[in-house]
Amino acid sequence: MEQEENVTNTYIFDSNNPTELARLINQDRLITQAMGGPLNGVMNVSELRNILDLGCGPGGWALDAAFALPEAEIDGFDSSRPMVNYANARAQSQKLENASFGVMDITHRFFLPDTAFDLVNGRFLIGVLQREVWPSFLEECHRVLQPRGQLRLTEAAEFGQTTSEAVNQLLELNREALYQLGYGFAYLHGLNILPMLLSFFNQKKYQHIKTHAAALDYSAATDGWSDMYHNIDLIAYQMKPILVKLKLINEELFDTIHQQAMIALQSPSFCGIVHITTIIGEKPTA
Ligand SMILES: C[S@@+](CC[C@H](N)C(=O)[O-])C[C@H]1O[C@@H](n2cnc3c(N)ncnc32)[C@H](O)[C@@H]1O
Repeated sequence: MEQEENVTNTYIFDSNNPTELARLINQDRLITQAMGGPLNGVMNVSELRNILDLGCGPGGWALDAAFALPEAEIDGFDSSRPMVNYANARAQSQKLENASFGVMDITHRFFLPDTAFDLVNGRFLIGVLQREVWPSFLEECHRVLQPRGQLRLTEAAEFGQTTSEAVNQLLELNREALYQLGYGFAYLHGLNILPMLLSFFNQKKYQHIKTHAAALDYSAATDGWSDMYHNIDLIAYQMKPILVKLKLINEELFDTIHQQAMIALQSPSFCGIVHITTIIGEKPTA
């Protein structure tokens, strides 16, 4: 597979850090399950032959798609060499010869031919693509899709709501930092990513546009709790230096809120929910 080296990591986190690799592996399992499988909502699934996953991370989504569709070829791209190496190692260990992963910077023109794919997938790119980059990124997705090919984009509508003031404060701080650093389209309402994506599908006259929303309940004693507990902890750990640098909070106060949040998450009365939405549409033929 063609590779690009010296790519820029435009992600809010350091994606060469093993902490982030571990977090994404964990999160992938949780989210794919909550969304009803990797291809939920995709039309004509058995006809898919060439699938592209952009910002694929450790490759969980692409590997699940490769397992579900042995006749399709799945290409995943990420800027992080450790993520790509891990994803390729998992493809080998699972004997998924139809999945391969390479390094590519998705903020620039993709080194991929026009109309090469019948499904282009992108999940959780809010913290990867700064607001001025989204239009050219979406144009690139459109270019590499064949007519009647499907674009499938998944983002969290907001970062969640919980019964804990401390957890809510952490979520709010994350949103504020992302917005200040140039990600998202409005400070309120989950950074307003979903309406922006929908408007692209409409402007380009995509057909059969569908939205599929899942509510992930991660309250105490639910299946999702343990993964979300670790997810929130690892996000907080990685956000701390960013929040402190932006002067949104000082180190001491952050540590107090972080600790309160982790205690609250362990309470048997803790309740939390996050909404994740997938938008799918078919590229028009003309
Ligand atoms: C939130 S993760 C999403 C991973 C995956 N899509 C998933 O849902 O599990 C964002 C990924 O984007 C990658 N990334 C960051 N900047 C990038 C860039 N400029 N081009 C390609 N990938 C990038 C990161 O390395 C990270 O793996």
